[in-house]
Amino acid sequence: MSEVVAYTREGNVGVISVNYPPVNALSHAVRAGLVSALEQGQKDAEADILLLVCEGRTFIAGADIREFGKPLQEPGLPDVINAYESSDKPIVAAIHGTALGGGLETALGCHYRVALASAKVGLPEVKLGLLPGAGGTQRLPRLVGAQKALEMITSGNFVGARDALALGIVDAVEGGDDIRQVGLAYAQKLAGEGAPVRRVRDISDKVEADKGSDVFDQFRAGLAKKARGLFSPFKCVDAVEAAFTLPFAEGLKRERELFKECMESPQRAGLVHSFFAEREVSKVKGLAKDTPVREVKSVGIIGAGTMGGGIAMNFANVGIPATIVEVKQDALDRGLAVIRRNYENSAKKGKLTAEQVEERMGLIKTSLSYDDFRDVDLVIEAVFENMAVKKEIFAKLDEVCKPGAILASNTSTLDIDEIASATKRPEDVVGMHFFSPANVMKLLENVRGSKTSDEVKATVMAVAKKINKVGVMVGNCHGFVGNRMLHKRGAEAMALVNEGASPQQVDKVLTDLGFPMGQFAMSDLAGIDVGYRIREERRNAGEDVPASWMDKLVEQGRLGQKTQAGVYKYEEGSRAPVVDPEVEQLIESFRAEQGIVAREVTDQEILERCMYVMVNEGAKILDEGIADRSLDIDVVWIYGYGFPAYRGGPMFWADQVGLDNILAAVKNYNNTVGGEQWKPAPLLEKLVAEGRKFSDL
Ligand code: 3HC
Repeated sequence: MSEVVAYTREGNVGVISVNYPPVNALSHAVRAGLVSALEQGQKDAEADILLLVCEGRTFIAGADIREFGKPLQEPGLPDVINAYESSDKPIVAAIHGTALGGGLETALGCHYRVALASAKVGLPEVKLGLLPGAGGTQRLPRLVGAQKALEMITSGNFVGARDALALGIVDAVEGGDDIRQVGLAYAQKLAGEGAPVRRVRDISDKVEADKGSDVFDQFRAGLAKKARGLFSPFKCVDAVEAAFTLPFAEGLKRERELFKECMESPQRAGLVHSFFAEREVSKVKGLAKDTPVREVKSVGIIGAGTMGGGIAMNFANVGIPATIVEVKQDALDRGLAVIRRNYENSAKKGKLTAEQVEERMGLIKTSLSYDDFRDVDLVIEAVFENMAVKKEIFAKLDEVCKPGAILASNTSTLDIDEIASATKRPEDVVGMHFFSPANVMKLLENVRGSKTSDEVKATVMAVAKKINKVGVMVGNCHGFVGNRMLHKRGAEAMALVNEGASPQQVDKVLTDLGFPMGQFAMSDLAGIDVGYRIREERRNAGEDVPASWMDKLVEQGRLGQKTQAGVYKYEEGSRAPVVDPEVEQLIESFRAEQGIVAREVTDQEILERCMYVMVNEGAKILDEGIADRSLDIDVVWIYGYGFPAYRGGPMFWADQVGLDNILAAVKNYNNTVGGEQWKPAPLLEKLVAEGRKFSDL
């Protein structure tokens, strides 16, 4: 008998139970075990009906993603499912936790499905660059029709048990939490009724009803925008369509072919890397698994601006009260009004009820005094980037806050150690860098200072999880991981325009790569006065910062979206960048002033200079230990800056481009463009010399 799948009998029910922690993924051992347990059940003369049930926290959560890219070991999942569907004894799948991907497909191969009310089902393969490849695209439409199947399969979204019941995906929903008992009772009931074998492949009414419908073309048209640049959503539509144009067996074959195409696509590799990287970042190097975590039951926030307000919302959303402190009442009132507007917009979109809006607003308090921070477990400072101000704030916090409170700064660039030096408890000081808009962006860059204690590091990582962010622990340097790389890209983009490219050409290269917006559209969103102030400060500090056409824009009052004009112009109420001839003229006259003769800049050069400069910086960041692993950098970019997950993040992408190609280009730009940013990173040179990749580190 297989270790991971057992066959036992209770009364007249043959029980096939899967026990393969953590999520009962369909590894080779599970697939083989399922087949042999089925054979036992078929042979067992005392068993009138069979029950498939899982141990642990969930039903089967899908194919074993770790086996992707390796040679398939028989039996393949479609054969396993076919054997279950072909069984002449009825089989019931009892679902708890999540039945996902191959897990739901297995359940669809069974003849009846019962689920706990807390269970969820879904076909999330598309999120891994795949399509359901074990009959899901053929069986699900037979139960729910074309439209719903397309929605579920192209979005990968989960459906709760009650909705699954309404849709006909499951046959019964029960309360409680003992899935084995629920499954047994349901199987016994069916056996008592003499319920027959009922195969989804033979159900045809929905298929007949939707035959020849234009839903597929409509869906493709809708996806053109939503799934821009993606490969597998379109293949999902092709596969579902096959359920309506081909007999079942041929539909399965077509699904298999399309699945194989997806499996071999680079997007699948990128998305699977992103899936594991997102989970891996929570395991911080050097931090013991059992490091104690402090309880965070209340937070204080300094600053009611866009950042402070967004941060407060994250906590209120999960029921943690937040107190915002500002120096002036009108700043508090303005901040609170913005928060309310955000919540009300969510309510308008149906994402929140009116009661939920009030509940969350009720959790956000405001105050003009630091005294209200006496009892909070965590304070996050979110004021503008000025070291003197921040140090003053931390000195005050040190006086007011209780022992053991965590003192965090949302700084995006400044030195955490210097901020910590303003307190007598540097071990409790840490960076928590949220990304704008803080209530939306999933990244939380947690920055460790040289004295930050392990307990504080573990706590801020746990806080990230609690507020539904992806936390990445990084080291302390100017700009940390994300902004340090972004600043290099920004400077290069600006230089490319100096030399002859247009801002829109630079942006298009980046959006074609899959970024949601280009460098300049993003600068306009954040406000181009931010970069201006940084350049001015550096100039004042005696650094040689070259003049820029962007400085001229700021000097004309064009600050970005907030003034409806920056690098682009914006129509009233619109966020869509529009090319402005005035800016084109300004750039031309800037070039003339500087004696620059514009040259043609190719898209390839833009791609290389914007992206390779980041990769080179990323290698330096790794070498300095600012990021522990290349996947930490990848996750920062995917969740903080919208790097396309299907390319796996900048470092994974670099591995695919070939580090030798990148190094050759870096050396070339070191000679032609010059500057610190083009000095080849020693780690990049080392990896190329050793024939290794970032992901081998
Ligand atoms: N294969 C292998 N490992 C898996 C896995 C899978 N399908 N799903 C989860 N894991 C691993 C995770 O990597 C993690 O490992 P770690 O502890 O070593 O980091 C562990 O299981 C727990 O996962 P989470 O941290 O994500 O746990 P949660 O409880 O937060 O979430 C989950 C559980 C909802 C099941 C989530 O893990 C998930 O969404 N998994 C992926 C589901 C999926 O995409 N299934 C489809 C696979 S493709 C397929 O089935 C193809 C078929 O059509 C032929």
